[in-house]
Formats: sequence, structure tokens, C-alpha cells
Amino acid sequence: MEGSECLQLLLRRCREAKDCAYCPYSRFPVGAALLTVGGEIFSGCNVENACYSLGVCAERIAIQKAISEGHTRFRAMAIASDMSDFITPCGACRQVMREFGTDWDLYLTKPDGTYIVKTLQELLPLSFGPEDLHKA
Ligand code: THU
Repeated sequence: MEGSECLQLLLRRCREAKDCAYCPYSRFPVGAALLTVGGEIFSGCNVENACYSLGVCAERIAIQKAISEGHTRFRAMAIASDMSDFITPCGACRQVMREFGTDWDLYLTKPDGTYIVKTLQELLPLSFGPEDLHKA
């Protein structure tokens, strides 16, 4: 995927999604773009609430959109923010991502367009997943 048109599109879609963020409380907009194995892209932005704890991260919104449209197998997600460092998903989002496998790539970007790539396995080692429920 490195250097491909598909990656460039995924990176653009996460930046565009960031522009839709509803974050009047944190003023910390985040955008995510999720690529399915079938090549479709679902984007998401963070959506906050006056009842602060009800806010949802961009990554989970993108996953929920994909799942609710019948897509459960993912290749990659790109994430964008205005932070001067590479944006990295919160622990809750990592666990929600892990539900759908450990072998997919996360493109963590900076506003200058640079990025680092991590697998979910790297971001959430020794994770608990659906398979583990059958080991008891
Ligand atoms: N946020 C995300 O949407 N994704 C991340 O990877 C980090 C944090 C949101 C949650 C909240 O709306 C705001 O950014 C500040 O934490």
C-alpha cells in the first residue's frame, strides 16, 4: 500500500473527515478513514457532547459506520489531527479495533503530511479478543 494511490486517498479522506469534527469542548478535531478489504473507505470524526462522557472518538465512528453497513474486515486506518506530533488512538479505540483482527495497519499522521505506520498488534500487544472467549 505504501506510495499507492489508495493510500493517498485514505490519507486525504482522514484529513477531510477532521474538518467535520464536532468538538466544541476539547477543540481537538480528529479524522479517521478506514479501508475495508474490499477497497471501500469509511470515514469518521470525533463527536462530542455537552454530557462530556458521551463523546465518541473519530476512529470508533468510522468503525461503527463500516460495521453498520455490513463491512467487518479491514486493511488499514489513517488518522489525522492538528497535533504537532503523530496522532495515536486512545486505549478504548485500540480495543474496539482489535475486535476486528490484529493484522491491519494504522497510518498515524501529522498535519505536515508525514506519517508512521503501526500494526494494531504493535499498538495493543497481548490483547484480549473474541477468540479468547472460547478458551475458558
Ligand atoms: N480523540 C479522537 O477522536 N481520536 C483520538 O485518537 C484521540 C482523541 C478525540 C476525543 C475527544 O473528542 C478529543 O479528541 C480530545 O480528546
